[in-house]
Parts: sequence; C-alpha cells; structure tokens
Amino acid sequence: MSIYTASTTAPVNIATLKYWGKRDKTLNLPTNSSISVTLAQEDLRTLTSVATSESFTEDQLWLNGQPESLQGERTQHCLQDLRNLRSRIEAQDSSLPRMSQWKLHIVSENNFPTAAGLASSAAGFAALVMAIAKLYQLPDSHSEISKIARKGSGSACRSLFGGYVAWEMGSEPDGSDSKAVEVAPQSHWPEMKAAILVVSADRKDTPSTSGMQHTVATSDLFQERIRNVVPKRFEEMKQAIQDRDFTRFAELTMRDSNSFHATCLDSFPPIFYMNDTSRKIVKLCHQINAFYDETIVAYTFDAGPNAVLYYLQENEAKLMAFVHHVFQKNSGWDTKFSQNDLEKFSEVFKTRVAPEVAFEFDEELYKGVSRVILTQVGPGPQDTTECLINKSTGYPN
Ligand code: DP6
Repeated sequence: MSIYTASTTAPVNIATLKYWGKRDKTLNLPTNSSISVTLAQEDLRTLTSVATSESFTEDQLWLNGQPESLQGERTQHCLQDLRNLRSRIEAQDSSLPRMSQWKLHIVSENNFPTAAGLASSAAGFAALVMAIAKLYQLPDSHSEISKIARKGSGSACRSLFGGYVAWEMGSEPDGSDSKAVEVAPQSHWPEMKAAILVVSADRKDTPSTSGMQHTVATSDLFQERIRNVVPKRFEEMKQAIQDRDFTRFAELTMRDSNSFHATCLDSFPPIFYMNDTSRKIVKLCHQINAFYDETIVAYTFDAGPNAVLYYLQENEAKLMAFVHHVFQKNSGWDTKFSQNDLEKFSEVFKTRVAPEVAFEFDEELYKGVSRVILTQVGPGPQDTTECLINKSTGYPN
C-alpha cells in the first residue's frame, strides 16, 4: 500500500512584545496581541517529517529519536483540525486518497540541544502543523494554518512566518480571528541580529502555561498591562519595524520584557523567571547604550533566565568591542570572529571611552552565561528534501 510523506522545517521566534495570558484555555486565545522576530534556521530549527498510509494502525510520534505520546489534548486538537480541513477537500474531489481517515507517523528533530533550555514548543508545533498541511495539500493560507498551530502552543502561530510577525489576538469567541500575520518580511530589515545568552538555571521554571494562568488570576498590574499598555505598544512596535527605527524598537522591546516580568513579580505568590545573571545582563545592556550614547542593543527575556539581545549588524563591532573588553575572552562570543576582528573591536572600544560609565570585569556574569548563540532574523517554514522517515517502511530512518 502506498505511503505518502512530507517534510518541513520551522523556525524559533522570540517575542519583542510578549504574549502572557489566555482568555480561553481550550482554544488558546490570548489576552493581548504580540509581536516577534523569527530567527534563522541554521542555528535553531525543528525538522518534521510526516507519513500516512491506509496500512498504518496508530498515530505515532518520535521526537529527537524517542517515541513520545500524541495523546496530549493540544496535539489532538491540531490533528483533528488538520483532518477536518483535509476531509473537506476530499469531499470535493473523489479521486483524492482518503488521508483524513488514515493514521499518521510523525518524526521530529531539533538541531539544538534541549539542554540549552531554549523553548522548542513554538518551532515544534509550527513544523508539525506545516508538515501535515503539506502532506494533505491544504490550500489554506499561512495565517489560516497559524490558527491550528496556535492551539498547540500560542507562540507557535508566529513561527508560521519569517521576518517580523504579529499575532493578532482577535475578538471572536471561536478564535477564528486570532491568527499570525506578517508585519514585515525578513528582507525589509535583514540587518537584525540576535545573540542568545544561555544562562545556567539551578531549578526548573514554572511552565509558561500555568505561569500565565496564575498571573491572570492574581496580578492587578496585569490588568493595567493588557488594558492600557500593550494595545498602544502593539501599534508603536509595528510602526518602529515599518520605519526600521532601531532606537524605538529597542526601547519598546526592553520595556515590554520588563513589563511582562513585573506582572510575574506582581503575581501572588510571585513567579521569578529572571535570576541574578539575567539582571546583570539588563544592566550591562543599559551600560553599553550609555557608553556609546546611542541605543545599539536591546534585551528581552521569556519564561526563564536566558537573555536574547537584538542589535543591528552595523553595530556588531561596537557591541562585541564592549563585550570583549568586559569579558576579555568568552568562547561563545568569540567563535564567529577572527583574531583580526577581535583586534578591530579593541580599537573601536578605545575610540569611545565615556569615563562616566563604570564597568568592570564581572566574574559572576562571565560564569553565569554558559553559552552564546549568535544568529539573526530569518525566514518562515521551509520545504526540504531531507526526510526523517523511510519511504518504504513508514518508520524513522
Ligand atoms: C513568555 O506559547 O509557550 O515566551 O500557549 O501555553 O503553549 P502556551 O504558551 P507559550 O508561551 C510563550 C510565552 C512567552 C512570550 C511569547 O513568546 O510571546
């Protein structure tokens, strides 16, 4: 019996205006709209292959080489929605194979270690949904498909697009207008770089799903955030992206990260995602901007202590000059640079000394960052000829 397969890759996205809070848990509808930057897939991506055949006896998933359950409510929701869309096109064309009735084999791999503590659910659900949409040859737009990914994990809907992406919260109770849209493609502002600072954490964080429920239920500040802060910021951030205004974009990004973490602190009992190293990174970024008397770097933190720094390519030497000076050496930062580059950084640093900005080598900060991933804005899900499933057996290669 024929085995049909499809594969796709999907990117990680890091919000610059945070999604935090649900108004409907089952449909995964948010209390506010959000914005993110999609990151390049050379460094961080999920590759998912799917197969279907009349001969398969059960839905099965293999994640990073291990069999995993597909029974989670959210995953079931996604599979059901995709099958419904497929059965609609099968009803219109009797020559199509009845894939909506058949079981699926799904094989998925990340190109980054789970141990790095980077959230992979966004790329994971985006890749899962896109791969099945491709297998089923669904004619629906990426925004339409993003509504299905949203039910898997809210932030996943934004990984359906490259570049700069908004998740419009919508207002319909059935979630039909809560979807991802492109704010601007990667090509509009390709100079955007991102440095992910992996911060060692000694304990597990409150998962984002339960963390945000707790904030919605207990924080007064949260009400202020969703009513009066985010709606205005959402428009301002889209405009800053349209205008390629980094100073504006950076300030809004930093303020929004701080606002989100403030609502976590205002939850009762409070939730702490940032740790001492995270706070040192915040301070360092403000020092860097003060030192150059120009906003060259922005920080943002999700539901954990890792930092993501956004900066423009043209300011990489300035940023690295400062970092190199403060840390002297750091393999994570330095691997992408030649000795020649590093010498140039030292020169850049010497040319702009603002004595009023105090900084010194900080052993704790240096040790607190276990790894640095240098990446940049990237495209949305990509077709690939790579396939993780053996096309004659229907099982992982
Ligand atoms: C802090 O998308 O992981 O990263 O919808 O419950 O799966 P669920 O939550 P998730 O939350 C992400 C929260 C965040 C902010 C963001 O990405 O916008």
